[in-house]
Amino acid sequence: MFRPVGGVVGSEHVLEAEGLDNVVLQEGDVTSPGLSKGTFDLVHSRFLLPHVDSPLTVLQTMVELAKPGGIIASQENDHSSWSFYPHCQEWAELLELLEKTFALRGDINIGRRTFHMLKDCGFENVRIRTSVQARGSPLSCASIA
Ligand SMILES: C[S@@+](CC[C@H](N)C(=O)[O-])C[C@H]1O[C@@H](n2cnc3c(N)ncnc32)[C@H](O)[C@@H]1O
Repeated sequence: MFRPVGGVVGSEHVLEAEGLDNVVLQEGDVTSPGLSKGTFDLVHSRFLLPHVDSPLTVLQTMVELAKPGGIIASQENDHSSWSFYPHCQEWAELLELLEKTFALRGDINIGRRTFHMLKDCGFENVRIRTSVQARGSPLSCASIA
């Protein structure tokens, strides 16, 4: 039988308490988290790297927080898969706007760079898994225009 043990520390600019007694939430900047280095079994981020101006620094910080032999897991987006068929001009324009907006600070397509950035952090055993959602709902182009 699975019995959860251990604790979780979450670090975000914006926090929402989930009411879990083994979760500590702490507000702050991920590049200076104020957490003890080398103490975490797993350091995970999701949809964070597209928003930061120095993603490599963030990954290096995550690496520092992990115990020797620990796991770094980065779950990030790449909008190369965000296609619409048949072609929808409004969708294409929306993606272009998103790309430009993210480029002001980060990179909406950071997913494709994450593997190499982890290699640059000195990791040998970097594994990558992709996931694409396909939606066949009747959402029409007109409804997002
Ligand atoms: C797209 S949201 C993802 C939220 C959550 N991780 C998830 O997967 O649902 C991006 C989050 O990154 C946080 N963020 C952006 N830059 C940050 C930084 N330098 N330090 C800490 N959090 C940051 C923002 O506060 C925001 O909550």
